Amino acid sequence: MGLSRSVAGKVVLVTGAASGMGRAIAEVFGAEGAKVAATDRNADDLAGTASWRLAMIRTCLPHLTRERAGRIVNIASTEGLGATPYLSPYTVSKHGVVGLTRSLACELGPQGVTVNCICPGPIHTGMTAPIPDDDKQKFARRRVPLRRYGEPEEVAQVVLSVALPASSYLNGAIIPVDGGLTAKFGYGSGDALAAWPRRLQSARDKPCDRTVRWAPPGLRRRRASRPPIAP
Ligand SMILES: NC(=O)c1ccc[n+]([C@@H]2O[C@H](COP(=O)([O-])OP(=O)(O)OC[C@H]3O[C@@H](n4cnc5c(N)ncnc54)[C@H](O)[C@@H]3O)[C@@H](O)[C@H]2O)c1
Repeated sequence: MGLSRSVAGKVVLVTGAASGMGRAIAEVFGAEGAKVAATDRNADDLAGTASWRLAMIRTCLPHLTRERAGRIVNIASTEGLGATPYLSPYTVSKHGVVGLTRSLACELGPQGVTVNCICPGPIHTGMTAPIPDDDKQKFARRRVPLRRYGEPEEVAQVVLSVALPASSYLNGAIIPVDGGLTAKFGYGSGDALAAWPRRLQSARDKPCDRTVRWAPPGLRRRRASRPPIAP
């Protein structure tokens, strides 16, 4: 099939490219020889609504479909996979980006355009700069198996991988780049665990095997009597 692992000469439009992950994405693609068009809008609304994204994608569509090999890579968040209490506008918008990704993957697939979504965990960028270092470290130690915040370039490299011509059969994928945060707490559970009783909250910060083994006695009985689930 001759699938290339190079983006040299490809035209890439990066939005939000003045800072953080957008900037790192523009730099990584530039270093790989792509022709990068970088845009930014100094907006307070970093949630990035799905309707704004849709308008942007619609504008680019004629160019994306021309060679039947276009790539759209959306940036959502681990908040698009779960929820943190009291962040509902952000969470709603990120779930919207995940939904938009899946819809467009189905709609544009027939035209040869792939649409995938990256869900970053906590990353050192302008957005997280106001969070005190102590709080960042505490959060990372408790929640992220790699026990640290990520760097923008670590997200940018995954965006590059998804955009390679060689990634031609990857479509509609929702990819966490989060140091294992969602692996630890499970998709869809997010910070809902914060509402657990104090006894269980302390259990969740202990090594995973202990947390997983614990189950209320009733559930333990039900699990034991249930036949094994087929793969
Ligand atoms: N930093 C994190 O921990 C983290 C985690 C998950 C998801 N995200 C998401 O990643 C994306 C990038 O954030 P970041 O952390 O790199 O922040 P950042 O503040 O470093 O950079 C964001 C850039 O986007 C620009 N921008 C905002 N709205 C725009 C718009 N409508 N059009 C064009 N540019 C716009 C800003 O001017 C800024 O330059 C955001 O959607 C954010 O919600 C960030």
